[in-house]
Amino acid sequence: MAAPKYTGKIEWPTKIELGRGLEGAITNETKIGYVDGEKGWLVYRGYNIFDLAEHSSFEETSYLLLFGKLPKDDELSDFKKKLVGYRKVPEVVIDVLKSIPKEVHPMSALRTGVSVLGCFDRKAEEITPKNDTEIGIKLISQMATIAGAIGRIRKGEPPIEPDPELDHSANFLYMMNGEKPDDFSAKVMDVSLILHADHGMNASTFTCMVVNSSLTDLYSSVCAGICSLKGPLHGGANERALAFLLKLKDEENAVRYVKDCVSQKKKIMGFGHRVYKAYDPRAKVLGQYSQKVTEMKGMGHLYKIAKKVEEEVIAAYGEKGIFPNVDFYSGTIYYAMGIDVLMFTPIFAVSRVSGWVARVLEYLPENRIFRPRAVYVGPLEERYIPIDKR
Ligand code: CMC
Repeated sequence: MAAPKYTGKIEWPTKIELGRGLEGAITNETKIGYVDGEKGWLVYRGYNIFDLAEHSSFEETSYLLLFGKLPKDDELSDFKKKLVGYRKVPEVVIDVLKSIPKEVHPMSALRTGVSVLGCFDRKAEEITPKNDTEIGIKLISQMATIAGAIGRIRKGEPPIEPDPELDHSANFLYMMNGEKPDDFSAKVMDVSLILHADHGMNASTFTCMVVNSSLTDLYSSVCAGICSLKGPLHGGANERALAFLLKLKDEENAVRYVKDCVSQKKKIMGFGHRVYKAYDPRAKVLGQYSQKVTEMKGMGHLYKIAKKVEEEVIAAYGEKGIFPNVDFYSGTIYYAMGIDVLMFTPIFAVSRVSGWVARVLEYLPENRIFRPRAVYVGPLEERYIPIDKR
């Protein structure tokens, strides 16, 4: 039978406002977080990020993101108990992580770890807001355990049992580094986890929401988020930013590096943002901590080089709205704290999982599957040609 002739007419809205990469698209209404890119303003549930970074903890911020309000004393202590209670992961997860080649990127190992975790949760397929909330809390707790174990295994060291006496960030550092952190290091990690916890409809959050909107299980959605966060244009920028900073010997070198990038039109990692056209507030806080931590650890030169790069990039591109983003200074902090460069993005994931889960849970009660369309610009009248005639 001959193929029927296409008789329709392709019609798309004549005025498509969307930019490439879905720039300008709106996905849903949310009460979770707001980014004002012109003012350099970030709020979680109405609370400014500067306020939360100074006064809150990662546990409290996660509670705020998930449940929409700051917890009372007993609510916070119950939530913390729950997180501590969930820290240990099934031994099989650790066994699988040990069997992964050491040179595999830790984000791939994290994705695998979360996938295995889901296979051993007998309630994984029960898709209800209540059950997904519980799984979400488990994931916030257990992703830190998995990332900690990956950090140790990569160095050829045995994973460490979580310490129930330590808060989330301190325990995470302990499981990664094998040493109980001092109070300042634990505070710095906590601030960093607060700052990375949520950020609008970024690629990984959108990915999680799209995947979850098919009503699949939350482990699958979070695995997808990890995959998206891994890329160098998203969470993976932090390791790339530090990698180039470490190659710069001094401030003179920094000036030359930026000039070369500008003349070659090469992107500088840790700068620029789809939404922020002003200084990213998270980079402001992390920049201050970077100065303190690097000086404390005798690496003040690293901060000075980074600061010089920042000045040069702003001089070249500030008018275009290109400033440091969250990934620029975070790496200098982690590096000074003795953390392996490839663990930087897993740290981001350990924090961002709270935003992923909060947004997925917010969307779930009135879920509608995400299903955009692409503008077809290909041919329509081709006819099948037998292979010997092509
Ligand atoms: N260095 C130099 N130029 C840049 C940079 C940069 N880092 N970022 C953007 N630009 C320029 C780009 O060349 C383009 O210029 P022109 O209009 O003349 O062609 C313009 O700014 C717009 O760039 P874009 O790539 O179209 O912007 P986008 O909104 O699609 O991408 C971005 C945003 C974050 C992916 C991009 O700024 C970038 O690639 N930055 C480097 C990677 C990075 O630091 N990513 C972390 C993002 S923040 C946290 C996170 O999401 O993990």
